[in-house]
Amino acid sequence: MSKLPEKYLSLIDVSLSVFLPGDEDGDLPVGEMMAYSLKNGGKRIRPVLTLEFCRLCGGSPEKALPFACALEYIHTYSLIHDDLPCMDNDDFRRGQPSSHKKFGEANALLAGDALLTRAFGILAEAELPPYFIVRAVDALADAAGAFGMIGGQYLDLAGENKSLSVDDLRRIDELKTGALIKCACLLGCIAADADIDSIDAAEAYAENLGVAFQIVDDILDVTADEDYLGKPVGSDEKNGKNTYVTLLGLEGAAAQAEKYTADALNALDFFGDRASDLKQFTRSLLERAK
Ligand code: IPE
Ligand code: IPE
Ligand code: MG
Ligand code: MG
Ligand code: MG
Repeated sequence: MSKLPEKYLSLIDVSLSVFLPGDEDGDLPVGEMMAYSLKNGGKRIRPVLTLEFCRLCGGSPEKALPFACALEYIHTYSLIHDDLPCMDNDDFRRGQPSSHKKFGEANALLAGDALLTRAFGILAEAELPPYFIVRAVDALADAAGAFGMIGGQYLDLAGENKSLSVDDLRRIDELKTGALIKCACLLGCIAADADIDSIDAAEAYAENLGVAFQIVDDILDVTADEDYLGKPVGSDEKNGKNTYVTLLGLEGAAAQAEKYTADALNALDFFGDRASDLKQFTRSLLERAK
Protein backbone atom coordinates (compact mmCIF):
# COMPACT_ATOMS: atom_id res chain seq x y z
CA MET A 1 0.00 0.00 0.00
CA SER A 2 1.49 3.33 -1.02
CA LYS A 3 2.05 6.10 1.49
CA LEU A 4 0.25 9.37 1.99
CA PRO A 5 -0.63 11.42 0.05
CA GLU A 6 -0.20 9.10 -3.00
CA LYS A 7 -2.53 6.47 -1.57
CA TYR A 8 -5.54 8.74 -2.05
CA LEU A 9 -4.60 11.18 -4.83
CA SER A 10 -6.24 9.48 -7.79
CA LEU A 11 -9.38 8.75 -5.78
CA ILE A 12 -9.59 12.42 -4.83
CA ASP A 13 -8.91 13.72 -8.34
CA VAL A 14 -11.53 11.49 -9.94
CA SER A 15 -14.12 12.52 -7.35
CA LEU A 16 -13.36 16.22 -7.64
CA SER A 17 -14.19 15.96 -11.36
CA VAL A 18 -17.29 13.85 -10.85
CA PHE A 19 -18.83 16.53 -8.63
CA LEU A 20 -18.32 19.30 -11.21
CA PRO A 21 -21.28 20.39 -13.33
CA GLY A 22 -21.53 18.36 -16.54
CA ASP A 23 -22.94 18.92 -20.04
CA GLU A 24 -26.34 17.81 -18.80
CA ASP A 25 -26.39 20.80 -16.44
CA GLY A 26 -26.29 23.32 -19.29
CA ASP A 27 -23.89 24.99 -21.67
CA LEU A 28 -22.61 27.90 -19.56
CA PRO A 29 -18.80 28.14 -19.13
CA VAL A 30 -18.98 28.44 -15.34
CA GLY A 31 -18.19 24.74 -14.88
CA GLU A 32 -15.07 25.20 -16.98
CA MET A 33 -13.92 28.10 -14.81
CA MET A 34 -14.48 26.01 -11.69
CA ALA A 35 -12.54 23.11 -13.20
CA TYR A 36 -9.66 25.35 -14.23
CA SER A 37 -8.79 26.24 -10.64
CA LEU A 38 -9.79 22.94 -9.12
CA LYS A 39 -8.05 20.46 -11.36
CA ASN A 40 -4.55 21.80 -11.61
CA GLY A 41 -1.71 21.33 -9.24
CA GLY A 42 -3.22 21.43 -5.77
CA LYS A 43 -1.45 19.31 -3.17
CA ARG A 44 -4.82 18.01 -1.88
CA ILE A 45 -3.65 18.10 1.71
CA ARG A 46 -7.09 18.75 3.16
CA PRO A 47 -8.96 15.94 1.36
CA VAL A 48 -6.12 13.56 2.22
CA LEU A 49 -6.63 14.47 5.89
CA THR A 50 -10.37 13.84 5.62
CA LEU A 51 -9.91 10.38 4.12
CA GLU A 52 -7.13 9.40 6.52
CA PHE A 53 -9.06 10.48 9.62
CA CYS A 54 -12.04 8.50 8.40
CA ARG A 55 -9.78 5.44 8.16
CA LEU A 56 -8.12 6.13 11.52
CA CYS A 57 -11.53 6.31 13.17
CA GLY A 58 -12.61 2.97 11.72
CA GLY A 59 -14.50 4.08 8.60
CA SER A 60 -13.78 3.30 4.98
CA PRO A 61 -12.07 6.29 3.35
CA GLU A 62 -14.26 6.07 0.23
CA LYS A 63 -17.28 6.95 2.31
CA ALA A 64 -15.71 10.29 3.22
CA LEU A 65 -15.00 11.30 -0.41
CA PRO A 66 -17.92 13.73 -0.75
CA PHE A 67 -16.86 15.43 2.47
CA ALA A 68 -13.23 15.58 1.31
CA CYS A 69 -14.23 17.06 -2.05
CA ALA A 70 -16.61 19.63 -0.56
CA LEU A 71 -13.76 20.87 1.60
CA GLU A 72 -11.37 21.07 -1.37
CA TYR A 73 -14.01 23.03 -3.34
CA ILE A 74 -14.20 25.57 -0.51
CA HIS A 75 -10.41 25.73 -0.22
CA THR A 76 -10.09 26.30 -3.98
CA TYR A 77 -12.65 29.10 -3.88
CA SER A 78 -10.72 30.69 -1.01
CA LEU A 79 -7.56 30.66 -3.16
CA ILE A 80 -9.32 32.23 -6.18
CA HIS A 81 -10.62 35.07 -4.02
CA ASP A 82 -7.34 35.37 -2.07
CA ASP A 83 -5.52 36.07 -5.37
CA LEU A 84 -7.87 38.83 -6.54
CA PRO A 85 -6.41 42.32 -6.95
CA CYS A 86 -8.53 43.54 -4.02
CA MET A 87 -6.92 40.92 -1.78
CA ASP A 88 -3.35 39.59 -2.31
CA ASN A 89 -3.22 40.53 -6.01
CA ASP A 90 -1.28 37.45 -7.14
CA ASP A 91 -1.20 36.42 -10.79
CA PHE A 92 -0.16 32.76 -10.47
CA ARG A 93 -1.76 29.89 -8.65
CA ARG A 94 -1.15 26.16 -8.83
CA GLY A 95 1.38 26.70 -11.61
CA GLN A 96 -0.82 28.66 -14.00
CA PRO A 97 -2.37 32.13 -14.34
CA SER A 98 -4.75 32.88 -11.47
CA SER A 99 -8.45 32.69 -12.22
CA HIS A 100 -8.78 36.48 -12.60
CA LYS A 101 -5.85 36.60 -15.06
CA LYS A 102 -7.45 33.86 -17.13
CA PHE A 103 -11.12 34.85 -16.99
CA GLY A 104 -11.23 38.42 -15.62
CA GLU A 105 -12.03 39.62 -12.13
CA ALA A 106 -15.80 39.36 -12.23
CA ASN A 107 -15.65 35.80 -13.56
CA ALA A 108 -13.08 34.82 -10.92
CA LEU A 109 -15.43 36.10 -8.27
CA LEU A 110 -18.23 34.04 -9.79
CA ALA A 111 -16.09 30.90 -10.18
CA GLY A 112 -15.25 31.15 -6.48
CA ASP A 113 -18.90 31.70 -5.56
CA ALA A 114 -19.90 28.70 -7.67
CA LEU A 115 -17.34 26.44 -5.95
CA LEU A 116 -18.52 27.61 -2.53
CA THR A 117 -22.15 26.95 -3.37
CA ARG A 118 -21.46 23.61 -5.02
CA ALA A 119 -19.59 22.42 -1.90
CA PHE A 120 -22.81 22.35 0.07
CA GLY A 121 -24.62 20.64 -2.81
CA ILE A 122 -21.97 17.91 -2.75
CA LEU A 123 -22.58 17.39 0.97
CA ALA A 124 -26.33 17.21 0.46
CA GLU A 125 -25.94 14.53 -2.23
CA ALA A 126 -23.60 12.33 -0.16
CA GLU A 127 -24.79 8.77 0.33
CA LEU A 128 -24.37 8.88 4.08
CA PRO A 129 -26.87 8.96 6.95
CA PRO A 130 -28.65 12.34 7.01
CA TYR A 131 -27.41 13.03 10.52
CA PHE A 132 -23.78 12.78 9.34
CA ILE A 133 -24.55 15.19 6.52
CA VAL A 134 -26.17 17.76 8.79
CA ARG A 135 -23.15 17.64 11.09
CA ALA A 136 -20.84 18.08 8.11
CA VAL A 137 -22.82 21.06 6.77
CA ASP A 138 -22.69 22.67 10.20
CA ALA A 139 -18.95 22.07 10.60
CA LEU A 140 -18.09 23.29 7.10
CA ALA A 141 -20.28 26.39 7.34
CA ASP A 142 -18.63 27.31 10.65
CA ALA A 143 -15.09 26.67 9.42
CA ALA A 144 -15.51 28.58 6.16
CA GLY A 145 -17.52 31.44 7.63
CA ALA A 146 -17.31 34.71 9.50
CA PHE A 147 -15.58 33.24 12.54
CA GLY A 148 -13.48 30.78 10.55
CA MET A 149 -11.60 31.21 7.26
CA ILE A 150 -13.40 34.43 6.26
CA GLY A 151 -12.76 35.96 9.68
CA GLY A 152 -9.09 35.09 9.30
CA GLN A 153 -8.91 36.60 5.82
CA TYR A 154 -10.51 39.75 7.19
CA LEU A 155 -7.91 40.02 9.97
CA ASP A 156 -5.08 39.19 7.55
CA LEU A 157 -6.07 42.12 5.32
CA ALA A 158 -6.80 44.47 8.22
CA GLY A 159 -3.33 43.73 9.61
CA GLU A 160 -1.44 44.74 6.45
CA ASN A 161 1.23 47.37 7.16
CA LYS A 162 0.49 47.28 10.88
CA SER A 163 2.63 46.00 13.67
CA LEU A 164 1.08 42.84 15.11
CA SER A 165 2.16 40.58 17.97
CA VAL A 166 2.86 36.87 17.61
CA ASP A 167 -0.42 36.20 19.43
CA ASP A 168 -2.33 38.36 16.92
CA LEU A 169 -0.69 36.49 14.09
CA ARG A 170 -1.42 33.08 15.58
CA ARG A 171 -5.10 34.00 15.77
CA ILE A 172 -5.09 35.05 12.11
CA ASP A 173 -3.43 31.79 11.08
CA GLU A 174 -5.73 29.65 13.22
CA LEU A 175 -8.67 31.19 11.40
CA LYS A 176 -7.57 31.80 7.80
CA THR A 177 -5.75 28.47 7.44
CA GLY A 178 -6.34 26.43 10.58
CA ALA A 179 -10.13 26.48 10.44
CA LEU A 180 -10.37 24.57 7.13
CA ILE A 181 -7.57 22.17 8.07
CA LYS A 182 -9.32 21.38 11.33
CA CYS A 183 -12.59 20.96 9.49
CA ALA A 184 -10.94 18.55 7.02
CA CYS A 185 -9.94 16.31 9.93
CA LEU A 186 -13.30 16.65 11.65
CA LEU A 187 -15.21 15.71 8.48
CA GLY A 188 -13.25 12.45 8.33
CA CYS A 189 -14.23 11.76 11.94
CA ILE A 190 -17.88 12.54 11.22
CA ALA A 191 -17.95 10.20 8.20
CA ALA A 192 -16.62 7.41 10.45
CA ASP A 193 -19.01 8.28 13.30
CA ALA A 194 -15.96 8.64 15.54
CA ASP A 195 -16.20 8.77 19.32
CA ILE A 196 -15.54 11.96 21.24
CA ASP A 197 -12.01 11.00 22.33
CA SER A 198 -10.97 10.44 18.71
CA ILE A 199 -12.52 13.76 17.72
CA ASP A 200 -10.64 15.52 20.52
CA ALA A 201 -7.35 13.98 19.38
CA ALA A 202 -8.06 14.88 15.74
CA GLU A 203 -8.83 18.47 16.70
CA ALA A 204 -5.71 18.82 18.85
CA TYR A 205 -3.65 17.50 15.92
CA ALA A 206 -5.33 19.81 13.43
CA GLU A 207 -5.07 22.95 15.53
CA ASN A 208 -1.31 22.55 15.68
CA LEU A 209 -0.94 21.44 12.07
CA GLY A 210 -2.92 24.46 10.85
CA VAL A 211 -0.51 26.94 12.41
CA ALA A 212 2.56 24.90 11.38
CA PHE A 213 1.26 24.76 7.81
CA GLN A 214 0.81 28.53 7.56
CA ILE A 215 4.25 29.17 9.05
CA VAL A 216 5.78 26.89 6.40
CA ASP A 217 3.77 28.74 3.74
CA ASP A 218 5.19 32.04 5.05
CA ILE A 219 8.74 30.66 4.98
CA LEU A 220 8.32 29.40 1.42
CA ASP A 221 7.02 32.82 0.36
CA VAL A 222 10.55 34.04 1.16
CA THR A 223 12.81 31.10 0.35
CA ALA A 224 11.21 28.98 -2.38
CA ASP A 225 11.29 29.40 -6.12
CA GLU A 226 8.18 30.13 -8.06
CA ASP A 227 8.28 26.99 -10.22
CA TYR A 228 8.36 24.75 -7.17
CA LEU A 229 5.68 26.76 -5.39
CA GLY A 230 3.35 27.27 -8.36
CA LYS A 231 2.52 30.74 -7.02
CA PRO A 232 4.49 33.97 -6.66
CA VAL A 233 7.20 34.33 -4.03
CA GLY A 234 7.52 37.64 -2.18
CA SER A 235 3.75 38.14 -2.09
CA ASP A 236 3.71 38.75 1.67
CA GLU A 237 6.39 41.43 1.55
CA LYS A 238 4.68 43.11 -1.42
CA ASN A 239 1.47 43.34 0.60
CA GLY A 240 3.01 44.40 3.92
CA LYS A 241 1.78 41.23 5.64
CA ASN A 242 2.76 40.25 9.11
CA THR A 243 4.11 36.69 9.05
CA TYR A 244 6.15 34.52 11.37
CA VAL A 245 9.11 35.41 9.18
CA THR A 246 8.66 39.17 9.55
CA LEU A 247 8.10 38.85 13.33
CA LEU A 248 10.67 36.17 14.21
CA GLY A 249 13.02 35.89 11.25
CA LEU A 250 13.52 32.76 9.14
CA GLU A 251 15.14 30.75 11.92
CA GLY A 252 12.60 31.82 14.51
CA ALA A 253 9.77 30.93 12.13
CA ALA A 254 11.31 27.51 11.40
CA ALA A 255 11.61 26.83 15.14
CA GLN A 256 7.92 27.66 15.61
CA ALA A 257 6.95 25.42 12.70
CA GLU A 258 8.93 22.58 14.36
CA LYS A 259 7.23 23.20 17.68
CA TYR A 260 3.68 23.17 16.27
CA THR A 261 4.49 20.10 14.18
CA ALA A 262 5.84 18.29 17.26
CA ASP A 263 2.64 19.12 19.15
CA ALA A 264 0.56 17.88 16.22
CA LEU A 265 2.53 14.60 16.16
CA ASN A 266 2.05 14.15 19.91
CA ALA A 267 -1.70 14.41 19.50
CA LEU A 268 -1.57 11.53 16.99
CA ASP A 269 -0.16 9.19 19.67
CA PHE A 270 -3.79 8.63 20.67
CA PHE A 271 -4.23 6.56 17.48
CA GLY A 272 -1.15 4.38 18.09
CA ASP A 273 0.61 2.62 15.21
CA ARG A 274 -2.32 3.22 12.90
CA ALA A 275 -1.22 6.86 12.64
CA SER A 276 2.30 6.11 11.39
CA ASP A 277 1.54 7.09 7.77
CA LEU A 278 -0.13 10.29 8.92
CA LYS A 279 2.85 11.08 11.13
CA GLN A 280 5.20 10.69 8.19
CA PHE A 281 2.95 12.84 6.01
CA THR A 282 2.84 15.51 8.74
CA ARG A 283 6.64 15.56 8.94
CA SER A 284 6.84 15.85 5.15
CA LEU A 285 4.75 19.04 5.28
CA LEU A 286 7.35 20.58 7.58
CA GLU A 287 10.18 19.32 5.34
CA ARG A 288 8.84 21.48 2.51
CA ALA A 289 10.48 24.46 4.21
CA LYS A 290 13.94 22.82 4.35
C1 IPE B 1 -2.37 27.53 0.26
O1 IPE B 1 -2.76 26.24 0.62
C2 IPE B 1 -3.06 28.52 1.13
C3 IPE B 1 -2.77 28.37 2.54
C4 IPE B 1 -3.68 28.16 3.41
C5 IPE B 1 -1.41 28.51 3.02
P1 IPE B 1 -2.04 24.97 -0.04
O2 IPE B 1 -0.56 25.13 0.08
O3 IPE B 1 -2.63 23.73 0.53
O4 IPE B 1 -2.46 25.14 -1.56
P2 IPE B 1 -2.75 24.02 -2.68
O5 IPE B 1 -4.11 23.46 -2.38
O6 IPE B 1 -1.68 22.98 -2.61
O7 IPE B 1 -2.73 24.79 -3.97
C1 IPE C 1 -4.26 32.27 2.44
O1 IPE C 1 -3.06 32.60 3.02
C2 IPE C 1 -5.20 31.57 3.27
C3 IPE C 1 -6.49 31.43 2.55
C4 IPE C 1 -7.61 31.42 3.19
C5 IPE C 1 -6.54 31.34 1.09
P1 IPE C 1 -2.01 33.14 1.95
O2 IPE C 1 -2.50 34.35 1.30
O3 IPE C 1 -0.67 33.15 2.59
O4 IPE C 1 -2.05 31.93 0.90
P2 IPE C 1 -1.17 31.91 -0.43
O5 IPE C 1 0.27 32.08 -0.01
O6 IPE C 1 -1.66 33.03 -1.29
O7 IPE C 1 -1.44 30.54 -0.99
MG1 MG D 1 -3.84 35.89 1.70
MG1 MG E 1 -2.31 34.86 -0.80
MG1 MG F 1 1.14 32.62 1.65
